[in-house]
Amino acid sequence: MYGTIQQSIDVRFIYDVVFSRDIFAGENTALRDVLLPAISEHPAPAALVMLEDKVATLHAGLADRADQYLRRHFPGLRLPPMAILPGGEKAKTDPASISKILRHVASAGLDRHSFVMAIGGGAFLDATGYAASLVHRGLRMVRVPTTVLAQCDGGVGVKTAINDPAGKNFLGTFAPPYAVINDFNFLATLPEVEGRAGIAEAFKVAVIKDADFFGWLCEHAKALGARDEQAMEQLVYRCAELHLKHIRESGDPFEMGTARPLDYGHWSAHQLERMSGYAVGHGAAVAMGIALDALYAARTGTLAETVADQLIRGLADSGFTLWHDALRATDELLEGLESFREHLGGRLSITLPAGAGRSVEVSAVDASIMRACIEELSLRACIAPCT
Ligand SMILES: NC(=O)c1ccc[n+]([C@@H]2O[C@H](COP(=O)([O-])OP(=O)(O)OC[C@H]3O[C@@H](n4cnc5c(N)ncnc54)[C@H](O)[C@@H]3O)[C@@H](O)[C@H]2O)c1
Ligand SMILES: [Zn+2]
Repeated sequence: MYGTIQQSIDVRFIYDVVFSRDIFAGENTALRDVLLPAISEHPAPAALVMLEDKVATLHAGLADRADQYLRRHFPGLRLPPMAILPGGEKAKTDPASISKILRHVASAGLDRHSFVMAIGGGAFLDATGYAASLVHRGLRMVRVPTTVLAQCDGGVGVKTAINDPAGKNFLGTFAPPYAVINDFNFLATLPEVEGRAGIAEAFKVAVIKDADFFGWLCEHAKALGARDEQAMEQLVYRCAELHLKHIRESGDPFEMGTARPLDYGHWSAHQLERMSGYAVGHGAAVAMGIALDALYAARTGTLAETVADQLIRGLADSGFTLWHDALRATDELLEGLESFREHLGGRLSITLPAGAGRSVEVSAVDASIMRACIEELSLRACIAPCT
């Protein structure tokens, strides 16, 4: 007779999320301090630097400065040829781009304790992080996010993903990074629409988790929309902090359960991105998604209408257009609920705001009420920015 052996494993992940400026300036020790412990105990350390091409072009000399910084602070560090590759959603959607990224990581001769340091937007970090998490079942990943959205949300968490015909982020891994280095200097070159995208994620997490932050965002929405540097830094810091706190304290960092509060508004956002052929970016789609679910929450009695109004006004004041004609295909949009249910593990769980700073989980969505909310959003979206 053989009894059952119950296996139980606890694994602890610790990583720093650093906030700085000009991280490759010789005198800036933020990156050196983060890498030093691991590099000094490695017999033959190596680091592959992967740079999103647009960021490399807009920040002249970036590749050389990164190279010089690493050589200066870590004379023994082996640096395989730097990879400068396209980013954006295509980098995690197009099989040829994904394969190119994977080949670069796989052929750099890295052992499991070597580093991949990726510098780019959230999509580039997702694609490079996915590749790094597969090679030798996981290399040490240092993320250097270069967009507001990636610095405050997508780049600080524990997941990687690429897109597939079966859905957005359909293939992915849980792979906590070795470290995240947020350099505010990168944000200066963002075009208007990308500069704004992260504001939607900040509203998302504020509405469901932090009433004070929600109030602050509403108050500073116009300044944020106008790219006020100081306000944007405060947003990035607080939003990243709330995300990290949720991952750390929710008791479910690897999303084994069904509740997914940080995905508030995302069932429709992901579907809208896909339906628009990714012409609607993630942040813009999230703005519409959270506005839509707030209207639904107000109609179904979980959220005071005043809070839904504040949210819509705040998003509009930050410059978001809360409507895209792809939303008119309501049947297809509502299919997003089905993909979301499958992604969650079979049982639908949608997070709805329940008052500034609070949320509830619902296990069903009334399609006719949601259709009415889509209609309402189309009307409100035309009015909100003008009033
Ligand atoms: N892994 C996660 O947990 C997670 C969480 C949230 C979002 N995401 C993913 O993140 C992606 C969105 O990230 P994003 O908003 O950073 O989009 P993105 O990476 O597509 O970047 C947006 C655009 O900005 C450009 N860009 C990047 N940095 C720039 C800079 N400093 N100056 C000028 N242009 C720059 C990019 O080339 C791209 O054209 C989505 O694919 C989303 O699914 C992942
Ligand atoms: Zn998101």
